[in-house]
Amino acid sequence: MELQEAIRNRRSIRQFLAKPVPQELIREIITDSLWAPSWGNTQPWEIVVVSGEKMEEFKKKNEETLLAGQAAQTDIPMPQVWPDAYLNRYKELGKGVLSSLAIAREDKEARLLHFARMFGLFDAPAVILLTVDKELSLEYAMLDIGIYLQTFCLLAHDKGLGTCIMAAIVSFPDLVRDLFAVPETKTIVMGAILGWPDPDAPVNHFERQRGAIDEFVKWVK
Ligand SMILES: Cc1cc2nc3c(=O)[nH]c(=O)nc-3n(C[C@H](O)[C@H](O)[C@H](O)COP(=O)(O)O)c2cc1C
Repeated sequence: MELQEAIRNRRSIRQFLAKPVPQELIREIITDSLWAPSWGNTQPWEIVVVSGEKMEEFKKKNEETLLAGQAAQTDIPMPQVWPDAYLNRYKELGKGVLSSLAIAREDKEARLLHFARMFGLFDAPAVILLTVDKELSLEYAMLDIGIYLQTFCLLAHDKGLGTCIMAAIVSFPDLVRDLFAVPETKTIVMGAILGWPDPDAPVNHFERQRGAIDEFVKWVK
């Protein structure tokens, strides 16, 4: 696959086929993704790959924890306020997702169900979790993890797999620590779900938005 095509066509996948992803394929993708750049080539990523019965348990418990009313408390604090331009983009995304699922804005019950599905990790067959050692400078390690995740997602896309990087995976760090024996010495940064995209699901096809180049770039000569 052409790199430009891969970058343009990769998108977050939120509905999957009920078909497992072979461990060998995940191993192949991760082996290649380890070539992502990192500060001083420190390669700070530590990766937990979850599938099979443990994945089923994780999805169930993550959703149950949300529905029990527990507030998300990620190791990396989530943004609480956004300047308008960012908030508007966030809202546009919400509209895209909900309208593709035929959920009306005022339908609170359906929105809660969608939220619950999100914490049920969209029933994906696998997930990767990224942690870093707490002894590292977190800011730089975070850059490295971001670059790693995009590399992973593109390589997965190249194999026909779908991914969605999700804060909802790491919203309950105690649960993650407990289920996957992640020690307190590690910061749980982020995760990505992985599976075969359902090609017929409208939620995998709604039109996404990006700002125009001039919103982001200042040319200096
Ligand atoms: C750090 C991060 C956290 C995210 N968390 C979620 C999440 O919890 N739930 C979700 O549905 N999508 C999540 N996403 C996916 C974004 O919504 C998505 O990348 C964005 O809307 C751009 O769309 P695209 O990936 O389809 O191009 C997250 C993405 C990133 C990079």
